[in-house]
Amino acid sequence: MAEGGFVSQGGAKSYGGNMTVFVLITCVVAATGGLIFGYDIGISGGVTSMDVFLKDFFPSVYTNMKETHENQYCKFDSQLLTTFTSSLYIAGLIASFFASTMTRLFGRRPSMLFGGAVFLAGSAINGAATNVAMLIIGRILLGIGIGFANQSVPLYLSEMAPAKLRGGLNMGFQLAITIGILAANLVNYGTAQIKGSYGWRISLALAAVPAIIMTVGAIFLPDTPNSLIERNQPEKAKNMLRKIRGTDSIEEEYKNLVEASEASKKVTHPWKNILQKKYRPQLVMSIAIPFFQQLTGINVIMFYAPVLFKTIGFADDASLMSAVISGFVNTIATVVSIVTVDRYGRRILFLEGGVQMFISQMIIGVMIGKVFGVSGTGSLTKGQADVVVFLICTYVAAFAWSWGPLGWLVPSEIFPLEIRSAGQSINVSVNLLFTFVIAQVFLTLLCHLKFGLFFFFAGWVLIMTIFIYIFLPETKNVPIEEMHLVWKKHWFWGKNLPNEADPSLQLSEPKITA
Ligand code: BGC
Repeated sequence: MAEGGFVSQGGAKSYGGNMTVFVLITCVVAATGGLIFGYDIGISGGVTSMDVFLKDFFPSVYTNMKETHENQYCKFDSQLLTTFTSSLYIAGLIASFFASTMTRLFGRRPSMLFGGAVFLAGSAINGAATNVAMLIIGRILLGIGIGFANQSVPLYLSEMAPAKLRGGLNMGFQLAITIGILAANLVNYGTAQIKGSYGWRISLALAAVPAIIMTVGAIFLPDTPNSLIERNQPEKAKNMLRKIRGTDSIEEEYKNLVEASEASKKVTHPWKNILQKKYRPQLVMSIAIPFFQQLTGINVIMFYAPVLFKTIGFADDASLMSAVISGFVNTIATVVSIVTVDRYGRRILFLEGGVQMFISQMIIGVMIGKVFGVSGTGSLTKGQADVVVFLICTYVAAFAWSWGPLGWLVPSEIFPLEIRSAGQSINVSVNLLFTFVIAQVFLTLLCHLKFGLFFFFAGWVLIMTIFIYIFLPETKNVPIEEMHLVWKKHWFWGKNLPNEADPSLQLSEPKITA
């Protein structure tokens, strides 16, 4: 399955070694992995709100949008239109199952190379599309590229980077995603100004730029020492470690890498393992966290902000501009999370973010309900429109310093080695699955639930915030090897875990703040 995505090992040992050119290039490649993902999240909404694009590919949606004025909520309701957005995520999900085997057997590099190349093909087909089939085939190829990139890039990154940088780099990947989304919003804003009918082509084809960087990067980059050890090339692995760490004293790290590799080879049934009662808390989190992350409704904004803004009566330019504004907020708020997460902890960010998202969504729901009612007629005044954009920004900011980065960080730090690959697979797969579901059903949900859609997501945010409050212990500053203790000490999980004689419990107690 999609093992390995977004791996970070907080609290790992420090072996020395420097920031070398290799590590630097690694960061650049990793960043392009995130950019590619983000660019695709952000590009489709703007494109599907462009008149020329709709006229050419989805004429019935275009006619419906122009003619039906009695119900704003259903203007864009079309399964074919949402398939254009969502096909990428289901393709990514399926591809990630194959990507993990390829990454393990042949190394991280071939997966990156393959991912980048397929992605490149997808962006070319999309840019040149003359019918809906070409559009969707292009999106599927992009999805396959993303499945491979999301699987191999974070793994490559976490294996190349010195241990002390891993946590920060994990969050850096999320930052790159948000920059990709913002870049897409800006590109859409620019290409929508182009007279004539090809603006959307530029938007879709520009995805090739980060893809070229990743593909070329993968040609020149070396494979990771971990992967060389895994594939029985110990001498090459040692040389590589010397090269990337910029020092000859790599013996201790090398020994540990070999031990870790042996240990993971002994794990013959990771899937059976994770089902054991003692791993129940980790199993629950690996499903609940990505599920809840998507049920915040964030991708309604990321995918469909321009469509949503148009639905509530914004002009074309204003819709795309509002998406640019929320894109900026998303990036900046992610930086807030990066600098606070290790100081104040995960729980406080989750809880504050949840409350802020809940309040924003409730007020938006009430406002839209008052103006448009159930019938979906009416329009916002300029002042009301500004308030809606402001509230969407407070909602996006709250997500971006809580569930956005933490939705990837927390699952990656709670799994012990013996269930890490299985746990990551579940996390990545559940995330992509629900990204797909939300992308596919949003426009229909909007048509049927109307302004109630905002209450629907607010309800989920309330549930997930209570869930975190009750069930998630604080993991800040807890070394990975001592992570199991946080569950033992938790009032609920502690009571329900099997009481095995566990020698590791005699280890020094970590500081646990919740
Ligand atoms: C989520 C994406 C989302 C993005 C927004 C990520 O953490 O997994 O689904 O679009 O954040 O910034």
